[in-house]
Amino acid sequence: MQYFVKTGKPEAQRTSCLVVGVFEAHRLTDNAQALDAASDGLLSRLLQRGDLTGKPKQTLMLHNVPGIHAERVLLVGLGKPDEFDAARYRTAHATAARALAATGAADAVNGLAELPVAGRDAAWKLQQAVVAMEDTLYRFDAMRGKTARAALTPPKLQRITFNLAGRRTLAAAEQGLAQGTAIAAGCRLARDLANTPANHCTPTDLATQAEHLAQDYSITTRILDEKAMRKLGMGALLAVAAGSRQPPRLIVMEYRHGARGQKPVVLVGKGITFDAGGISLKPPAGMDEMKFDMGGGASVFGALLAAAQLELPIHLVGVVAAAENLPDGNAVKPGDVITTLAGHTVEILNTDAEGRLVLCDALAWVQKNYTPELVVDMATLTGACIVALGHHAHGLFSNTPELARDLLTAGDTVGDRAWQLPLWEDYQEQLKSEFADFANVGGRDAGAITAASFLHRFTRKLRWAHLDIAGTAWTGKAATGRPVPLLAQFLIDHAARRAG
Ligand code: BES
Ligand code: MN
Ligand code: ZN
Repeated sequence: MQYFVKTGKPEAQRTSCLVVGVFEAHRLTDNAQALDAASDGLLSRLLQRGDLTGKPKQTLMLHNVPGIHAERVLLVGLGKPDEFDAARYRTAHATAARALAATGAADAVNGLAELPVAGRDAAWKLQQAVVAMEDTLYRFDAMRGKTARAALTPPKLQRITFNLAGRRTLAAAEQGLAQGTAIAAGCRLARDLANTPANHCTPTDLATQAEHLAQDYSITTRILDEKAMRKLGMGALLAVAAGSRQPPRLIVMEYRHGARGQKPVVLVGKGITFDAGGISLKPPAGMDEMKFDMGGGASVFGALLAAAQLELPIHLVGVVAAAENLPDGNAVKPGDVITTLAGHTVEILNTDAEGRLVLCDALAWVQKNYTPELVVDMATLTGACIVALGHHAHGLFSNTPELARDLLTAGDTVGDRAWQLPLWEDYQEQLKSEFADFANVGGRDAGAITAASFLHRFTRKLRWAHLDIAGTAWTGKAATGRPVPLLAQFLIDHAARRAG
């Protein structure tokens, strides 16, 4: 999809479809009022008749509206005027995208981007409009057969032009458009990677994807294979990979656009391409969804893509700890004790708590190879996080309050929200081991927190945050692309703060 911004009168737009909003209780927006006037009160009459009440997600497509130049008019319900907020604004654009895609229209002029949203400027509105529309238009058909794919009708809709009333905000709008396009591209990449089943997305495949990304953008890669890991002593990552025929990879992507000597922001992602649980095997129901267990890694790809596309003036390193967690004759067993790259011994009491194991070696590797400004890791880490927060918010943990605040703010801005949970020392007690320095599980209570507490043992010297995305990286059977929007916005804000 191509996106543009321009200014003009709604009734003068020559387009296949003009999108305007209508509030509940028959309150027309400025755009709708202009069309109503041009069409001799057609809109008012339709609303009077009750064809559209203006509730959120409602649409009405009009053809051959007199007095205007557009071929069609799409009316989109906005809800009650006093309830209109950021969430409703996104819903309106998503609703418009769905309705537009269902018509034969090749282009559209979207008048919804000039609706006022409290506390948000034109840049935000354009950014969020693009992200919401792209989110709705996303399809994943790569796994359909040849015939089925040939039968898919390609999307007709090619161009969306956002129409603004005045020129005053045009420059900001263009900037928002660029940001929205980059965030949407990052989300698309993350979703494609996560939706791809485990037999098509192995750790080796992910490493290949990193090389593709490096070809397209100014990104360099470094891939550590099993042999390199053994030499370094990544006992935790190797223990997880031991039960699979698929060799693990530590994938490092580096985007370097910062000032000389600028410490890098490091993103670390859990990249378990399939999590069967290992010897602590998972029950069969829903196990297919464990192909999404590399969602954290996928978000590292997406965030790097967004940053590179925007040419943000930052130094960014992305690390994906990629492995498959399967049961096998060679697999790590409950009770086994392994030595991590950082040097601690860990008693693996449950082989299904594998995410923290691959991450602890990745986090240690980062500290041996970089002096980070800050580190954020993303992981589909615990079912317990879903119990705590459901599918709405990421679980956020941090040892640095300002970092937590910045991540929370970024998530709020883009509607990809996180909620902070405690990382108090009190929880460390649950990780005591009878034999090793500590255990990889902390019992039933506070599962998301004890998992984060395990990671915290490896990040004491860092400004660090952890996002548990178990409930948010996918819903139903589809990847969401989260937390790419949060990460991209955090990086945009970070670059702006540095620029002062
Ligand atoms: N990948 C899972 C967490 C998960 C489960 C994410 C369900 C999304 C949906 C993780 O590797 C795991 O198995 N965690 C265990 C930890 C437990 C053994 C301490 C869990 O949550 O049950
Ligand atoms: Mn697991
Ligand atoms: Zn897992």
